[in-house]
Amino acid sequence: MTQKQMRVVLATTNSHKLDELQRMLADSPIELVMPPHVIEVDETGETFRENARLKARTYARLLGEPTLADDSGLSVDALDGRPGVHSARYAGNNATDADRNRKLLGELIDVPDSERGASFHCALILAWPGGDELTVEGLVSGRILHEPRGDHGFGYDPVFYVPALDKTFAELTTEEKNAHSHRAKAASLLIEALQHAPAGR
Ligand code: IMP
Repeated sequence: MTQKQMRVVLATTNSHKLDELQRMLADSPIELVMPPHVIEVDETGETFRENARLKARTYARLLGEPTLADDSGLSVDALDGRPGVHSARYAGNNATDADRNRKLLGELIDVPDSERGASFHCALILAWPGGDELTVEGLVSGRILHEPRGDHGFGYDPVFYVPALDKTFAELTTEEKNAHSHRAKAASLLIEALQHAPAGR
């Protein structure tokens, strides 16, 4: 493992995101930690990038520490990109992952396979308290199945099928998902960007 030179707060309460990102950044100089307390941020942005920036900037300013924010979600072609930035709140505030997947499958009930294209998006923003920031994005394309499949992962993983792997994200092992996901693509771009960023921001 690379020596950790940079402590970075992850602006989230989602332990799945922390777990995935910690594994992806294991060989980077970043030591990723949970925030000392939750900070409520209104995600009023219209894009993943805008919402990631709102979270990263708010946490970095209030905690005075470099902060990484992940804003991610699922865009479904037949729903004009929904749930998109509303992926977490798609079925209401107290809904579970199963509720959200049920709602999505219900909305797509009459949609044929050829029109069930979808993509997972992830915007990562690393913000420093002084105002500097690095922004990267990752995307992976697939299709929404008619029924959930697989027990791994979280969120919409059981309904998101990737033809090239012939599996849903929930049928992948942690290592496989972390090699192919939208978050993995964004994390590897972040590691690359950090290598070119001036030190000591
Ligand atoms: P955020 O916390 O506002 O970024 O909400 C992200 C939401 O998008 C999550 O609550 C999930 O429902 C969904 N999502 C994001 N990344 C993934 C993933 O890797 N797998 C499955 N669902 C995801």
